Order: sequence, then structure tokens, then C-alpha cells
Amino acid sequence: MPPDEGDLLFRYAVERLSHGPALEVGTYCGKSAVYLGAAAQRAGGEAVVFTVDHHRGSEENQAGWEHHDGSLVDEEIGLMDTLPVFRRTVRAAGLEEQVIAVVGRSRAVSRWWTTPLSLLFIDGGHGEQPARDDYEGWTPHVMPGGLLVIHDVFPDPAEGGRPPYELIYLPALASGRFEEIEALGSMRVLRRV
Ligand SMILES: C[S@@+](CC[C@H](N)C(=O)[O-])C[C@H]1O[C@@H](n2cnc3c(N)ncnc32)[C@H](O)[C@@H]1O
Repeated sequence: MPPDEGDLLFRYAVERLSHGPALEVGTYCGKSAVYLGAAAQRAGGEAVVFTVDHHRGSEENQAGWEHHDGSLVDEEIGLMDTLPVFRRTVRAAGLEEQVIAVVGRSRAVSRWWTTPLSLLFIDGGHGEQPARDDYEGWTPHVMPGGLLVIHDVFPDPAEGGRPPYELIYLPALASGRFEEIEALGSMRVLRRV
């Protein structure tokens, strides 16, 4: 996540966090969670950010794929585990009070979730099924006036994968429940009407 996109996330999260918790889908090693957690710290009070990930990596993070980092593999079980690095990141940033990890598959968590969200940041699996699951499972929880922020939205197929654009961004706009308020790089910010 480039610094300007992180700053955008921080700015909107500061604006929204006094209305209720924010939730991020896709923690990885905690970079965007630090922007969100810093916003919660700035907002003060009881502001918190939940961040959901199974910590086993997306398809493109697996061995043999473009974004694989061998140092993130748990040697004992031969699977990726980004949770230890995430925990170190959040501790080093002094944000353990503000950032709450939820470890599990996005769909399994969203089906039991009931708390209205002031801001939802979707940056999870970029395959078709994960994108569909994230749209269907999480967007109904954004409170009126709340924000849906989507990462890796590429209207031009030459620039990146389709699912965040076709299966999250376009359906959100088409639903009539969201209107776009800002676009920066691959980030899109939509407000729940
Ligand atoms: C692009 S990374 C997130 C990057 C992070 N937001 C940042 O900026 O530092 C996507 C993450 O989504 C997680 N993920 C992918 N599919 C998932 C699913 N169905 N449920 C939970 N987490 C998932 C992966 O494990 C990976 O850590």
C-alpha cells in the first residue's frame, strides 16, 4: 500500500471512528492495520479496528506465485502464517489497544457478525469467490453514513485483476446503497447512503 493510499485510509478512518468500529478484511502483516489503528488512536475514546484474516495468505502469496515470501512459511506445517509478523508490527507501532485481530476465513466471520461498521476496508482475497463473499458478507454491515473503502480497484484490465472492480466496486454502486466520494490510485471510497 503506497503512502498516499495509507494516508487516505487514515484520514477517513479518523473522520468515522467516533461513530463505531472499523473493520478491515485482509490483515497480512499489518501495514494497513497500522494506518487504521493510528486513526483509532487519534480518534481516542473506545475507537477500535477489527482486522480479519485466516493468515494463510491469498492465492498469489502461495509458493510458486508472484507474491510469495518464503520467510512467512511456518516450517513445521509448511503453510504460510502471517500472524506472528502482524503481532510484532502492531506491537512495534504501539497499537495493541486499538487493533483487534480476528483470525478466520472472511465468510465464516461475516456470517456471524452483527455490529454496524463505521468504515469497512476490503483488501482480502482477490479471487472471484473471496471477492463475492466479501461483498455479500460484509457490505450489509456498513452503517448509514459509513464508508466502504476498496483496495486494488482497476477499471483497466491491463493494470490489475478484475474481482475487486467487477465483484465489489461495481455491485456496490449498482445496489444504490453506496455513492463514490473519492478515488485515489487503486483505492475507492464509497459512502453508504
Ligand atoms: C492483499 S493482502 C492484505 C494486505 C493488507 N491490507 C495491507 O495493506 O498490509 C490480502 C490478505 O487477505 C487474506 N485473505 C485472502 N482470502 C481470505 C479469506 N477468504 N478470508 C480471510 N482472509 C483472507 C490473505 O491471507 C492476505 O493476508
